[in-house]
Amino acid sequence: MTQLLGVALRGTGSCLPARVVPNEEFTDVLNLDTSDEWIRTRTGIRERRFAGLGETSASLGANAARNAIESAGLNPEDIDLIVCATVTPDLMCPATANLIQTALGCRPIPAFDIAAACSGFLYALSVGSQFIRTGAVRHALVIGAEVLTRIIDFTDRNSCILFGDGAGAVVLSGTQVVNTGVRKVRLYSDGARQELIQVPSRVTPVPPPGPPQVQRLEHMRISGREVFRFAVTRMVELIEQAEIDARELGLNGIEVLIPHQVNQRIIDAAIETSGFPADKVMVNLDRYGNTSAASVPIALDEALRTGRCKAGDTVLLVAFGGGLTWSSALVTL
Ligand code: UT7
Repeated sequence: MTQLLGVALRGTGSCLPARVVPNEEFTDVLNLDTSDEWIRTRTGIRERRFAGLGETSASLGANAARNAIESAGLNPEDIDLIVCATVTPDLMCPATANLIQTALGCRPIPAFDIAAACSGFLYALSVGSQFIRTGAVRHALVIGAEVLTRIIDFTDRNSCILFGDGAGAVVLSGTQVVNTGVRKVRLYSDGARQELIQVPSRVTPVPPPGPPQVQRLEHMRISGREVFRFAVTRMVELIEQAEIDARELGLNGIEVLIPHQVNQRIIDAAIETSGFPADKVMVNLDRYGNTSAASVPIALDEALRTGRCKAGDTVLLVAFGGGLTWSSALVTL
């Protein structure tokens, strides 16, 4: 049997829109019955970024990808595969990955999207890793890109305050060194709880269930309180399982936990229950809010650029969201 390759994390990049939207905008401009204090204390979010007129998942994703390719010391023509996670594609067809491929000037290579909501980046990371591990491709570009502000209901104070736009990307490369890079990925889903987070499309057969004000087909719908409970429970399980995985892999430990940037209270509750050290948790949701599939790669890129983690460290990436889906990855940098 052919020897499986290691999957090195060779580069990271991110791209955030320039427009900063502080909490006050929801009261002062959108006239919502909320407050900066409520948003800060219930979510930890102070501000987020909104995409400008010309900005889309593809344009933000392409910029994040360029940065990741540059940090990997490669050129766009070196890339053999593009996997883009998004629930806010520019078009249903072609895939956002195809638009990014063209924007970057890549060769004719496989390029496709993955829809697994806030877990999307880790699903895409798993797919990209497996292409590399088997030797099918050498360099894979894995992207999470979202413009959630195009699908949120700005009259619904329960959801619109939570989300922001952005993109993050990584370059994965095959290596003969097997004890580095992507060490273990765990993916889960439970379609039975699909109604808790929904983004209807133009082909949705009937309006989703829910009170009349959220039945509009074009908007995202979330059941915040239920998602909150699901997220804490799953995050605790993922951390505890990853700690077992890390021991079985012979790792010295987990240097940094990079969770999906959803709500500070969800992260706090999960680390308190699991006993994971709070000072090892990377959080940037105060500045970017929840960027769905983009949140983990944006935080990973920031953690590396700011020295929160360094070469040789093992990071635990954890995400959960619509589907319902939940996922984790242990990555040695
Ligand atoms: O990535 C996956 C997608 N993300 C999610 O689904 C988010 C997960 N959930 C959450 O982050 C939290 O559940 C929320 C931030 C959405 C809500 O926080 P909570 O502490 O669970 O609040 P709640 O839903 O229990 O609501 C408490 C009160 C309610 O008022 P009453 O019924 O007690 O009078 C809400 O109407 O807070 C009210 N409320 C608000 N008040 C001011 C809800 N949103 C707001 C708001 N401003 N923006």
